[in-house]
Amino acid sequence: MDSLAITKAIEDQEWLGPVADGLQKGVGAAYEAGGDAGRKVEDALHGVWLGHPLHAVLTDIPLGAWSVAAALDVMEAAGNEKVAAGADAAVGIGLLGALGSAVTGLTDWYRLDGKATKRVGGAHALINITATALYGVSYGLRKTGHRGAGRVFGFLGMGVVSAGAFLGGMLVYDQKIGVDHSDREKLEEDAGDFVDVLAWDDLPDGKPTRVEVNGHAVVLVRDSDNVHALADSCAHLGGPLSEGKLCDGGIVCPWHESRFALTDGRVLDGPSTFKQPHYETKVENRRILVKYGDTVMEG
Ligand code: FES
Repeated sequence: MDSLAITKAIEDQEWLGPVADGLQKGVGAAYEAGGDAGRKVEDALHGVWLGHPLHAVLTDIPLGAWSVAAALDVMEAAGNEKVAAGADAAVGIGLLGALGSAVTGLTDWYRLDGKATKRVGGAHALINITATALYGVSYGLRKTGHRGAGRVFGFLGMGVVSAGAFLGGMLVYDQKIGVDHSDREKLEEDAGDFVDVLAWDDLPDGKPTRVEVNGHAVVLVRDSDNVHALADSCAHLGGPLSEGKLCDGGIVCPWHESRFALTDGRVLDGPSTFKQPHYETKVENRRILVKYGDTVMEG
């Protein structure tokens, strides 16, 4: 069975729909209840500060630690009792990593829509929660002297977490979740000199307006005597920024509410962790000229 068939099989699981909806609503309500502080925590957990999804980094901790634990468990089962403490420590480290991994994963996922994404993401979450519970039991058994049973629960956990990791890979590689959707390379390839895109008088103040530059959609925003230009297709999942609204010096994507600075495209609010490609602008003879001018951002 290939990954597309697996996606389809999961997508067809009707019972997953309400489970995923309920989980997403619960996570969203928790962040909303936190107000501005909740938004800051959410952005930190997306990885806005890192410029990369934090979840992808944290998932390596439980997978790595539990792989080590499995190897040490095999050695212990073969009679080497000296490795027992190391195996227990690896299971414990994996549990801590799984907690961070779960929180960041749920934070990324709750803002996603689309049947397949919701259900595959929901299945990924449920499988990994099950694996973490198995390792939790394994840890408890080890610490109460039931080492053989602890190892069995550990091996069960390893099997389950491997299935969860496979679904996580499908979300990234098949459904392109957590990757930069801005097509930056193509923008650079097609970049040229300034292009005349619109008469200054035809650009309403404060209303995002879509134009084309070298075959790429660009959103223009006039702010009194200035004009800003960003790629129109959102770096998160391709939402049309020209249909978004303006808020505190940024433009808010209509799909999942990432907010990008008008001046340079940096991320002001997630879920996007990738900055939005930015264009230079100038006005000559009451015409607006635009040129792709992405710059490397700090912070
Ligand atoms: S497409 Fe998701 S925030 Fe823009």
